[in-house]
Order: sequence, then structure tokens, then C-alpha cells
Amino acid sequence: MHVNGKVALVTGGAQGIGRAFAQALLGKGAKVALLDRNSEAGQESKAALAEQFEAQRTVFIQCDVTDQEQLKGAFKKVIEHFGRLDIVVNNAGVNNEKDWESTIQINLTSVIRGTYLGLEYMGKGNGGDGGVIINISSLAGLMPAAFQPVYCATKHGVIGFTRSIALAANMENYGVRLNTICPGFVNTPILQSIDKEENMGQYYSYKDEIKNMMQFYGVMDPSIIAEGLITIIEDDTLNGEVMKITASQGIHFQQYSQTPFTSTKR
Ligand SMILES: NC(=O)c1ccc[n+]([C@@H]2O[C@H](COP(=O)([O-])OP(=O)(O)OC[C@H]3O[C@@H](n4cnc5c(N)ncnc54)[C@H](O)[C@@H]3O)[C@@H](O)[C@H]2O)c1
Repeated sequence: MHVNGKVALVTGGAQGIGRAFAQALLGKGAKVALLDRNSEAGQESKAALAEQFEAQRTVFIQCDVTDQEQLKGAFKKVIEHFGRLDIVVNNAGVNNEKDWESTIQINLTSVIRGTYLGLEYMGKGNGGDGGVIINISSLAGLMPAAFQPVYCATKHGVIGFTRSIALAANMENYGVRLNTICPGFVNTPILQSIDKEENMGQYYSYKDEIKNMMQFYGVMDPSIIAEGLITIIEDDTLNGEVMKITASQGIHFQQYSQTPFTSTKR
């Protein structure tokens, strides 16, 4: 897919990786809707991006992704505002082992809902023009994370869901490609959660272990993750892939053996 002229919706777009996604998409000529529950950061990002790119190509919509009606309403607003939808990035996420139920709601349930909404509007079977959905997981979606068990479970869930729905999309000719990105540590405000008892809960005393891991593996700039996003959007052969991005190996893909029971219905 050529990014130029396309419309992208990015959840959690007010800061961090989501904002870097918006910047890269705008740089390629897309129109971008930033969805975030943090209105202050969202407005700030919109204003900063408007200085760099034509202001009318960015819109900020305040939205808590865990609120079904708000998320549905935000998708509708994007289409009303820009007239179409081509790219959905389900990126909003938190690291909170204390309020772990809300971590599941934000990191997994809302990613599933955002994916279904994307398919509703972009799926060819529903009269859409096709598109691309990218769900943001983590390296913690591929390996255990001793002090973030629920975060880890949600990120494993994102991979399993996205790979499965990608198979269905292929079999049913939705015209929508669905892929996952799994970054290692990235320099964004989420890393501050490691120092907070209200986020780490019973694992708070292990914060230095996580910091040691960060030092060992390295912390990447969000722009590298945005490069991975653009690669997925532009390469029409990618569906059901799990892109890993690490400081040591850069952008590469998780290798899986053949998935059973795949067929293509024409
Ligand atoms: N930074 C890392 O090291 C890292 C590594 C791997 C994966 N990730 C994943 O990347 C994604 C982006 O994280 P980030 O590092 O940019 O974090 P961040 O905290 O900087 O940004 C996350 C954004 O999501 C928003 N958000 C959180 N809950 C929301 C909700 N209920 N509704 C709407 N918006 C909500 C926040 O307001 C924030 O703007 C997350 O899914 C995270 O799990 C991050």
C-alpha cells in the first residue's frame, strides 16, 4: 500500500511510539487521527505535528479505548472527518501489574475491539476498500517476563489473536492485512512505570532487575519502531507476520513453522 493520501487511525497516539507512528505516517503523506485518553498530551502532539506538516492532515480525538462507545464513536468521527479509513494501528498500552484487570482491558480487549472495528469499516465483505491493521505487542509477547506476568499475557494474546484473524482475513478475502509488531525496550514515558509501586504492585522490589535488563538489551528510539510500521504498510505480501524490533538485530521477523488448516476461499 502506498501511504501517501491514505487515512490512518493510531490509538495511544498522544506520545511515545504512537506519536512516532503519526510522525512517520505524516512524513509519507498520510492523514492521521490520534486517539488517546490523555487530552493534554494529545493536543500538544497535534499542535507540534501541525507545525511540521499541513495542520489539516492531523486530528486529535480524545478517546478511552476501553470504553466501547467512545472507541466506536472515534472510528466514526475519523471517517466523517477524513472521508475514509485505510490504516488502523492498535497501539495504546499500559504496564500495570497492580490494576491488572485494566491492563487486560487496554492491552488486549481494546486491541481486539479496534481490530473488529477496523474490519467493519475496511473489510471488502462489508463494502470497504481493504486496508492494513497493525497491532502492537512486545518482545514480552514472545517470551516470559518474570515481573510483568499480566502485561506478558496480554502481549501473547495480541500475537495469537492477530495471527489467527490474519488467517481468517486471507481465507475470506477481507482485503485487509493484519500484522503484529514486537519491540524490545523503547525510550518512551511507559518506562517510568517501572519505578512506580502503583504500576508494579507486588513486583515493585524487582524494578532494578528490569532496569538491568534494559541496560543489557539496550533502549531504542521510537523512530525505529515507526520504520517497522511503514515497512509493514508498504509491503503488500505481509499478513499474519510478527515483526520483532530489537537494539541488537533491528527489524526482523519471528519464524514459525507452517500453520495447519489454512485454505483460501476464492
Ligand atoms: N516503550 C517500550 O519499551 C515498549 C516495548 C514494547 C511494546 N511497547 C508497547 O507499545 C505501545 C505504546 O507504548 P509507549 O511505549 O509509546 O507508551 P506510552 O505510555 O508512552 O504511550 C502509550 C499511550 O497510550 C495511551 N493510553 C493508555 N491507555 C489508554 C486508554 N485506555 N485509552 C486511550 N489511550 C490510552 C496513553 O495515554 C499514552 O499516550 C504499548 O502497547 C506498549 O505496550 C512499548
